[in-house]
Amino acid sequence: MCGIVGYLGTKNATDILIDGLKRLEYRGYDSAGVAIHTGQALTVLKEAGRISVLESLLTEAKPEGTRGIAHTRWATHGSPNQLNAHPHTDMNHHTAVVHNGIIENYLEIRTWLQDREIFCVTDTDTEVVALLANTLWNGNLLDTMREVVKRLRGSYALALMHHAHPDEIAVARKDSPLVIGEGLSEMFLASDVTALLPYTREFRFLEDNQIGIVREDGVSIHDKDGKPVTVEKTTITWDSEAAEKGGWDHFMLKEMMEQPVVIRNTIGSRIADNRESIILDGECTSSAYLEHIDKIYITACGTAYHAGMVAKYLFEHMAGLPVEVEFASEFRYREPLINARTLVIVISQSGETADTLAAMREAKRRGAKVLAIVNTVGSTIAREADSVIFTWAGPEIAVASTKAYIAQLSVIHLIAVHLATVRGTMSPFEIEQYLDELEQIPDKIDSILARRDEIKALAARFAHGRDIFFLGRGFDYNIALEGSLKLKEISYIHSEAYPAGELKHGTIALIEDDTFVVALCTQSPMVEKMISNIREVKARGAVVLAIAKETHRELTEVADMTLFLPDTPDALVPILAIVPLQLFAYYCAIERGCDVDKPRNLAKSVTVE
Ligand code: AGP
Repeated sequence: MCGIVGYLGTKNATDILIDGLKRLEYRGYDSAGVAIHTGQALTVLKEAGRISVLESLLTEAKPEGTRGIAHTRWATHGSPNQLNAHPHTDMNHHTAVVHNGIIENYLEIRTWLQDREIFCVTDTDTEVVALLANTLWNGNLLDTMREVVKRLRGSYALALMHHAHPDEIAVARKDSPLVIGEGLSEMFLASDVTALLPYTREFRFLEDNQIGIVREDGVSIHDKDGKPVTVEKTTITWDSEAAEKGGWDHFMLKEMMEQPVVIRNTIGSRIADNRESIILDGECTSSAYLEHIDKIYITACGTAYHAGMVAKYLFEHMAGLPVEVEFASEFRYREPLINARTLVIVISQSGETADTLAAMREAKRRGAKVLAIVNTVGSTIAREADSVIFTWAGPEIAVASTKAYIAQLSVIHLIAVHLATVRGTMSPFEIEQYLDELEQIPDKIDSILARRDEIKALAARFAHGRDIFFLGRGFDYNIALEGSLKLKEISYIHSEAYPAGELKHGTIALIEDDTFVVALCTQSPMVEKMISNIREVKARGAVVLAIAKETHRELTEVADMTLFLPDTPDALVPILAIVPLQLFAYYCAIERGCDVDKPRNLAKSVTVE
């Protein structure tokens, strides 16, 4: 996600802002910029690339001023270039704004502005905020910010300046963090404390739907109706490393905790207001093209491949389309049977994985169109695919993918509904019901994350096991694959994921006393069969943890331990079921003293064959 820094005081704002942005570099970004009030006007300097590129720009023309805002952008809407970099302004530079999050209804606002002869010049969602602020300006920064945020839907941490009010910076937040730092005769703001620790340890953490007006001598905080509210100051004792993780012990845990917001960001702006259709861009998602295809071929690596396995079951079940899924490292050499009537979908967090990139190029060479599901804007796969759907998970720092996988599943559910709409395999009522259930998933994940100590206790019991098996049927088998990979890659425990019905064809020979088995039993039609499989392995000495929906209490009679999930339609349970497995792997790795964020032998993006 993006980085925000702001300053009001007596020092040169540019120096403090650039220093603050550098402390946020760990978050990942592709462009940077500053807006400085020089006393007469708002001066904006911004550039694609590293902060050092912006610094060289500033060296040539360093704006003098003691107030300003700055930003490092992780592109979501619009390529990572100078035009799309923040801060964004209206055409006269009366307003300047920096933003972290997703404005879901930016197209609607863009139309509202166009009706008033006000036109955007960038590809971003954020620009509409600067134009709204200028259009709604009434001489009072608090009033104006209130009127602006009333019109926004989505997630945002905002900092807004107006040329006529050099002594104030307005801030607002919803679902995206923003902190206000207090110094001696100077004030700071940032997307997280990491940027400001050298200057202050006294912070106020803005809460959702609050607006702050920051001045050199303090801050006034208000609710969305403008009523003053009190936000207590917190003294932060973290060192900078802890601060980068938002106070969490590891990036992986921080990123797991971000999963509910990631889903809301990824699906929010893509569900049509009529709730009967999905808004997806690009030729490969057009009705005309989708009516033309007779097969989908999905190819990816690792966790992204496991997301593709869920997609296969979903697309076939919901849209009646035959789907093949293949590891990209296999696909690229096996002369796949694809042609112009095959839609090839590639899935990649980094957008740079060599095998997936090569598979995509092979698919195009064979005449297929390629739709990419990618987390990194501007990546090679995103640029070369015929169509792209971005997962708005923000930068994923931990090598083990969690929030990006959840975001991939979210996009896959949207595509499944879209395919069903185009092919008429679901009624508008069924689609509306499905989307209602999808929108409840973030809160359900929150409830599972809140139980992480329960999962930590389970991990403590099994972290020193030699072999851990994950069993499941249908969607549960897909989740078993991902749960097993998570465990292997960060705790180094040997693990296998198996279709539960396949166990008796060989692998059950490995089950012996105290072998630990995780039985995924979330698919209602399969619960009885899974109970039989649990009994089979228990008869051979296994210790079994069953994961099931809370409606299947009978599993407590069969398994040694059970972990129940909130009741959810079978097709949507995979998004929930992976969360306890992510946490289980995480706590096993910690119990074994492993380097959770940087596991041995692994890279975040495998850009070599
Ligand atoms: C996931 O936990 C792993 N780090 C790895 O399997 C990863 O999913 C795989 O390398 C694919 O990466 P990509 O999504 O960036 O293409």
